[in-house]
Amino acid sequence: MNPSPEPRVEFRAYLPSDHESLVQLWHDCDLLRPWNDPGDDIRQCLENPSSQLRVAVCRQVLCGSVMMGCDGHRGWVYYLAVDSRYRHRGIGRALMEQAEVWMRARDVPKIQALIRHDNLAVRGFYGRLNYRDGDVQLVQKWLAEETP
Ligand SMILES: CC(C)(COP(=O)(O)OP(=O)(O)OC[C@H]1O[C@@H](n2cnc3c(N)ncnc32)[C@H](O)[C@@H]1OP(=O)(O)O)[C@@H](O)C(=O)NCCC(=O)NCCS
Repeated sequence: MNPSPEPRVEFRAYLPSDHESLVQLWHDCDLLRPWNDPGDDIRQCLENPSSQLRVAVCRQVLCGSVMMGCDGHRGWVYYLAVDSRYRHRGIGRALMEQAEVWMRARDVPKIQALIRHDNLAVRGFYGRLNYRDGDVQLVQKWLAEETP
């Protein structure tokens, strides 16, 4: 007997009805930090024509996401996440490929992602996709009145 085929994964733009599942996914993937309000990040992404939020859905389960944006100079990827039950099936790669297509369509010459120091696991993933370490150090300054 043939093994049952892998359920089909669909990729589409974020819909408001995804909100709760998406924030839960980010929480489960340890992408949330107290100083970043995910609802605010989603709102800003949707309001900005230079950014987009895409999700992966398998049998009506939201199982992946990627947020992409172009700052007029470089392309950035945020909130790349795949539900742990759906990993190692190529969903993360497909989400990154979609981000690359989106960047290329806007003539963005380089795509970049920020990796937290303690997120060692994801380095292997980016390496498989031919992403290389940049010779940079991130510096930052909070402009909001209440600094965390
Ligand atoms: C990183 C993440 C999105 C990968 O999703 P995924 O769907 O499992 O990835 P894929 O199945 O598409 O893997 C693509 C390739 O990377 C490899 N890979 C995936 N995870 C890897 C890991 N942790 N270490 C090394 N290689 C890895 C796969 O083997 C595959 O290689 P191949 O296509 O050459 O066989 C997922 O592990 C995740 O959500 N992690 C937690 C959230 C996170 O850290 N996000 C990134 C923030 S910067």
